[in-house]
Amino acid sequence: MTFSGHHRWLIACTALLAVFVVGANGVDIYLEWNVAIDTTINPTILQQPVITINGMFPGPLVNASTNDFIHVNVFNNLDEPLLLTWNGIQQRLNSWQDGVSGTNCPIQPGKNWTYVFQTKDQIGTFFYFPSINFQKAAGGFGPIRVNNRIVINVPFPKPEAEFDLLIGDWSYTSYKDARSLIQSNNTPGHLNLPDFVLMNGKGPYGYPGIVNYESFTVSQWKTYRFRISNVGNELSFNFRIQNHQMVVVETEGSYTQQITLDSLDVHVGQSYSVLVTANQKEADYYIVATPKMLSTTDNSSLVGKGVLHYANSNTPVSGPLPSGPDPFDRAFSVDQAKSIRWNMTAGAARPNPQGTFNVSNVTLSQTFILHASMANISGLPRYVVNNVSYLTLDTPLKLADQFANGSDVYQLDQFPVQSVKDAAEYGVFVSTGNHKGWIELVFKNDLDVMDAWHLDGFGFYVVGFGDGDWQPELRSTYNLLDPVVRSTTQVYPGGWTAVYAFLDNPGMWNLRSQNLKNWYLGQELYVRVYDPDPNPAKERPPPENILLCGKFETSAPASSPSGPPAAPVPPAAPVPANAAFGQTPW
Ligand SMILES: *[C@@H]1O[C@H](CO)[C@@H](O)[C@H](O)[C@H]1NC(C)=O
Ligand SMILES: *[C@@H]1O[C@H](CO)[C@@H](O)[C@H](O)[C@H]1NC(C)=O
Ligand SMILES: *[C@@H]1O[C@H](CO)[C@@H](O)[C@H](O)[C@H]1NC(C)=O
Ligand SMILES: *[C@@H]1O[C@H](CO)[C@@H](O)[C@H](O)[C@H]1NC(C)=O
Ligand SMILES: *[C@@H]1O[C@H](CO)[C@@H](O)[C@H](O)[C@H]1NC(C)=O
Ligand SMILES: *[C@@H]1O[C@H](CO)[C@@H](O)[C@H](O)[C@H]1NC(C)=O
Ligand SMILES: *[C@@H]1O[C@H](CO)[C@@H](O)[C@H](O)[C@H]1NC(C)=O
Ligand SMILES: *[C@@H]1O[C@H](CO)[C@@H](O)[C@H](O)[C@H]1NC(C)=O
Ligand SMILES: *[C@@H]1O[C@H](CO)[C@@H](O)[C@H](O)[C@H]1NC(C)=O
Repeated sequence: MTFSGHHRWLIACTALLAVFVVGANGVDIYLEWNVAIDTTINPTILQQPVITINGMFPGPLVNASTNDFIHVNVFNNLDEPLLLTWNGIQQRLNSWQDGVSGTNCPIQPGKNWTYVFQTKDQIGTFFYFPSINFQKAAGGFGPIRVNNRIVINVPFPKPEAEFDLLIGDWSYTSYKDARSLIQSNNTPGHLNLPDFVLMNGKGPYGYPGIVNYESFTVSQWKTYRFRISNVGNELSFNFRIQNHQMVVVETEGSYTQQITLDSLDVHVGQSYSVLVTANQKEADYYIVATPKMLSTTDNSSLVGKGVLHYANSNTPVSGPLPSGPDPFDRAFSVDQAKSIRWNMTAGAARPNPQGTFNVSNVTLSQTFILHASMANISGLPRYVVNNVSYLTLDTPLKLADQFANGSDVYQLDQFPVQSVKDAAEYGVFVSTGNHKGWIELVFKNDLDVMDAWHLDGFGFYVVGFGDGDWQPELRSTYNLLDPVVRSTTQVYPGGWTAVYAFLDNPGMWNLRSQNLKNWYLGQELYVRVYDPDPNPAKERPPPENILLCGKFETSAPASSPSGPPAAPVPPAAPVPANAAFGQTPW
């Protein structure tokens, strides 16, 4: 090799190394967000408060790449406490940034707090939303993209452009009125139906009185990536585009086997990426989202309607809406769910195939069988898990663990994870998840409406769906070969869904219904994954800017409340003071 050749090679090598190092370490992204109420946006036809971020509804895009560090300085200009959570972002070793009531003190009105977290080893489509006080019903949500590092191949050609599409049910009722209503007067089923389905905060195209509808402009023959999330509160929807097919490529951080569909079911809290090629004649086409398990007419306000607009089109949308599956056709929906599989050979956040780490031969360390239903407790309607309705404390569990060894705040493993209590009760439901063990979670839906469960801190492998009761023998029906990995799964009415997760991420992790009413009224628990090793490389110490509240609030007298609790305080406090200490196995 000549000198100059060698020299060139060295430069190329150094450049490559630099790219690799920068890519591998991620960059810092600084965001400053003002969260406030806006009463002029009026996404439907009535005036109502909407939660905006920097004046935007939905909020701004968080556009990150694998391993980036996101710094979000959140200014709470609401008139009540606020927390944002990052749905599907795993917060590796860092549940301090998860932004749920069990991990963080809320940001008080007029105050700010900076989240700092890394999109460690993740790629994919996610979204954020306010996690307490029913605020999600008023907005405050927005899209998150975690892009592949430049050195890692994506298993499909680069699309012409990407579109974030947040779709969700929406109610006329102000969120404060809605949350007080459901505390006293709630019934399972659809008696509290929402009023609209919005696309990126905009009402259905053509609906009387709706001026702003969502529209995407495309060029003929180009391919686009739509990142679709269901940011709604209770309705699953079927998504489709008139005359166009879509190729499913990604869901909540996993590259899927690419399948071509006419329509896609998206349940509450779920995200997907689909590729759509503009291969029709230059015109405008309907984009629709119709609710599952409800009969609607094409002109219903509960049918989300937007427009796919070809750049040179002068032809407005026309014809009937593209027809979809019967909203009550469960077999269709389950079959489609089973066909969403992991692409074992595609690399994701790392160059090695995502399938190298798989569940074909794992030994389970724990099984939780979680029955979700409703019960009346002290005359109030509540959602329950194994007949326990989660009681939100003023003191986050994570702080209790850190500063008081958990004592007299909550008692670990007090509630059954495989059976249902005879009588419904309130409880601070926290269960041990065995560190570095495989857990099997069986979600059982005892109600006659759709449910969706989400686990913070992990992606889980969706191994099975079934009707009726779950029995251990039904494991033989699981797909252990190539189950998709995601963080939210639907559970059909009267049915069950089984997932596996590898608990290698120590922390205090929220396990919840994504349906807002269910969650707000108690359908959640926490899984405490504990690693006794104090090495901060194992689990991060609390951040320097940690907020203190509840038991650890220092500035205010002990009797003064730190703000409205995230859930109503039940008549009798069920947690016996000091009883827990000494019985807990940690
Ligand atoms: C998001 O970040 C990627 C990678 O840095 C960049 O290529 C892309 O243009 C960004 N997209 C937006 C909408 O900011
Ligand atoms: C609040 O915002 C100020 C100004 O940007 C910043 O210096 C400070 O660190 C923030 N406080 C917290 C707790 O993040
Ligand atoms: C899976 O990913 C590989 C590698 O990127 C790709 O070549 C292949 O087409 C994908 N297979 C399917 C079924 O999507
Ligand atoms: C739906 O709305 C369209 C346009 O507003 C109207 O032409 C059509 O008659 C309506 N259909 C029904 C069934 O009401
Ligand atoms: C799944 O993992 C096992 C090792 O546990 C490996 O032998 C197998 O090849 C993997 N399966 C796939 C499809 O990659
Ligand atoms: C499957 O698991 C068993 C028991 O843990 C182990 O002995 C065996 O080597 C594993 N097989 C593969 C292919 O990983
Ligand atoms: C709760 O009580 C109400 C009114 O008494 C009753 O209609 C409802 O069926 C009860 N719900 C459950 C789940 O028991
Ligand atoms: C749950 O509690 C309710 C009311 O306290 C009771 O009626 C019901 O039987 C319990 N469920 C089960 C499965 O035991
Ligand atoms: C926490 O409690 C456990 C069990 O009660 C005890 O063994 C341990 O030493 C305590 N840790 C601290 C830091 O007090």
